[in-house]
Amino acid sequence: MAATRRSSRISGIAGRLIVAMVLVVLAGGLTAWLVASAVGPGVFRVHMEHAEQTPGSVAAHAEEAFVSASTVTLAVALGASVATSLVVSLFLSRRIGASLGSMSAVAAQVAAGRFDVRVVPPRIGAEFDDLAEAFNQMGTRLDQNETMRRRLMADVAHELRTPVATIAGYLDAIEEGVEQLTPSTAEVLRSQASRLTRLAADLAAVTRAESGALPLALESADAGDLVAAAVDAARPSYESKGVALAGRVEDQLPPIAADRDRFGQVLGNLLENALRHTPGGGTVEIIVSRAHGGVRFAVVDTGEGIDAEHLPHVFERFYRVDTARDRGHGGSGVGLAIVRALVTAHGGTVSVRSDGPGGGTSFVIDVPPALAALRR
Ligand SMILES: Nc1ncnc2c1ncn2[C@@H]1O[C@H](COP(=O)(O)OP(=O)(O)OP(=O)(O)O)[C@@H](O)[C@H]1O
Ligand SMILES: [Mg+2]
Repeated sequence: MAATRRSSRISGIAGRLIVAMVLVVLAGGLTAWLVASAVGPGVFRVHMEHAEQTPGSVAAHAEEAFVSASTVTLAVALGASVATSLVVSLFLSRRIGASLGSMSAVAAQVAAGRFDVRVVPPRIGAEFDDLAEAFNQMGTRLDQNETMRRRLMADVAHELRTPVATIAGYLDAIEEGVEQLTPSTAEVLRSQASRLTRLAADLAAVTRAESGALPLALESADAGDLVAAAVDAARPSYESKGVALAGRVEDQLPPIAADRDRFGQVLGNLLENALRHTPGGGTVEIIVSRAHGGVRFAVVDTGEGIDAEHLPHVFERFYRVDTARDRGHGGSGVGLAIVRALVTAHGGTVSVRSDGPGGGTSFVIDVPPALAALRR
């Protein structure tokens, strides 16, 4: 890597400048040699002929011949060097100027909000190509952020619309006397209002988690303890639905660096999802083992599974597989987005596997061992 970078630096702008200098020196030297060989002998011959006609003036003529031959040679060589350096400088500055000009034109378009424009690598040196590449990566990143921002706005607007429309509809109906404010209508209004409150809380949580603004209190933790705490917290709801819940923890696991509350939230979200999507009589297990020097947590259920087309999207904000039904369950679709953000903040990764409808689902979290994570 370092070697590639060094050699690309040599083929970069420094290399081009050195070549330009060498060209100027070569042009001067070559011209001097050509002029000296073409003019020198003639000048000397003329002076020597004059010296023969005027005895005693050989030394003076030789000096004069030397001065005039070298003056002509130096003057022409200097002229050639100046001309070459002018041509080379013009060439280089035009190419550099043109590529900087096109880059600043593209930068102006990006500043004006057009994130899809890209710079063509100018191919006048590694530094310029690196700059163009970095610029294009920035453009791609801005483009993705913009797409995410738009989608988030659309999702939030969509999530707000239904409860607000329901509340407004009921209020109109009560005002017009079509509906009475009975305990059951009050309950509908209350449930829609609490849906809005939950949406606001979920949005705040996912935004905080994804922006990395949640400071983690990392400490060396035992994976078995974390799993035991999560299983204890989830047990009552599992018992009331009749779904078996078990934790299987391998012996002698390395400690991991975890924020107990946040990691508890991660396991809690996965256990809540597993319970929601596993019918009574099914089983959910948390299997903890050693993997890649760190610790792997697998939350495996025997529930309804996830179709392959939905698998890549379940970690996205507001993504629900069965929109109507999952919303009916009370989910906003941000639980897994929070899981992913928190696992990433722990230096880990999370993935999902499923054999499709009816085949159960496994969520797998890999976290590095405590030493590696605390050194980061
Ligand atoms: N264990 C699972 N089995 C089957 N489908 C699942 C499982 N876990 C998640 N899903 C699917 O992934 C979607 C996204 O899950 P996520 O936790 O992000 O949202 P949610 O549970 O619907 O809502 P929230 O977690 O915000 O209350 C769910 O709506 C569900 O369709
Ligand atoms: Mg969830």
